[in-house]
Amino acid sequence: MRADELIEGKIKEVLKSNKATYEDLSEVRLRMGLNENFLVDKFFSHTILIEAAQGVDVRRYPETKGGRALEAISQELGIWEDELIVGNGSDEILDLVSKVFVGRGEALVVDPTFEMYKFYVGLSGGSVRNVLTDEDFEISADKVLSAVNERTKVIFICSPNNPTGRQYQRDEVLRVVEEFEGIVVLDEAYVDFAPYSLTLEAPRYPNLLVLRTFSKAYGLAGLRIGYGVGDRDLVKWLRSAQSPFSVNSVAQEACRLVLKNRRVYEAFIKMVVEEREYLMAELEMVNGIKAYPSSANFILVRLIDPAKPSSEVCRSLREEGIEVRDRGGLPLLENCLRVTVGRREDNLKFIEALKKVLGDE
Ligand SMILES: Cc1ncc(COP(=O)(O)O)c(C=O)c1O
Repeated sequence: MRADELIEGKIKEVLKSNKATYEDLSEVRLRMGLNENFLVDKFFSHTILIEAAQGVDVRRYPETKGGRALEAISQELGIWEDELIVGNGSDEILDLVSKVFVGRGEALVVDPTFEMYKFYVGLSGGSVRNVLTDEDFEISADKVLSAVNERTKVIFICSPNNPTGRQYQRDEVLRVVEEFEGIVVLDEAYVDFAPYSLTLEAPRYPNLLVLRTFSKAYGLAGLRIGYGVGDRDLVKWLRSAQSPFSVNSVAQEACRLVLKNRRVYEAFIKMVVEEREYLMAELEMVNGIKAYPSSANFILVRLIDPAKPSSEVCRSLREEGIEVRDRGGLPLLENCLRVTVGRREDNLKFIEALKKVLGDE
């Protein structure tokens, strides 16, 4: 029997639609497409990495379930260890939630958003329905709750939302949590750049799981480490499904060091926020586009001229050596692209290239 004959039809469709295998970016001069954070100082980051590597014996398996990082995060947040799960990136936790809580059931996704929710749910054999934000990318609890049916097991809400940059109203999110009988996954991957977080409140609710990552604010995307905070029982089930050594020892140690140096990272975060506002102001001066205010480390940009579709503009920017993400295929995002906030010189190069591509020189 051939390999593909062994794959169930529904799962095969999910695998075929997987666009998550990113293109080769080796030719790209400026990476502004994956919301990585190059405002974290490269040399500081190296120092952390070297110290982390010196602090572990890689001949040994790592501490199980990210134990070393777990302890550091627990102390930092003032949250009990059994209210925490550490993963190989927050992606791993999304995968676990889909397997454990959605299974062959249904999940509701607030769209337009991060595409991996659909992927992991689909891979577990489940199905996804979506509920759209309004045109301003805001949500109301009423609208989200009215989209729930008896099959809905999990609602995925990303806030600040990727790719709109919108952080939803705290009261609306909490009302969804309070009134929905299943689990709400609140993905706060970008919350370090935003006004408020619900992370510390998560353990108070039996059905809220807040996800965080070290990939964005802390610039550890290459090490793969993230965490979830929630009710003990909810977390216990997720941890039971996790493979024991999924978080490597260098990542665990680096996480500990990063938290120890939190003040330094707060300065990097402040720089991202300042650069975001600078980039926003520059974008507002470019003709033929609309830039949406953001609470994250990226900005969503809509191209007004239908003769210049986002796919083409992204391709032309790529020819200029700049990678941004075409989001034009997502609901409500016709002709939109997403650009990651870079260092001042990167932002200037991007603006210059965008003006050139749009003929606004
Ligand atoms: C909204 C959102 N959640 C989760 C992730 C995954 O983060 P991690 O690197 O921790 O797996 C990303 C990465 O881009 C993201 O945008």
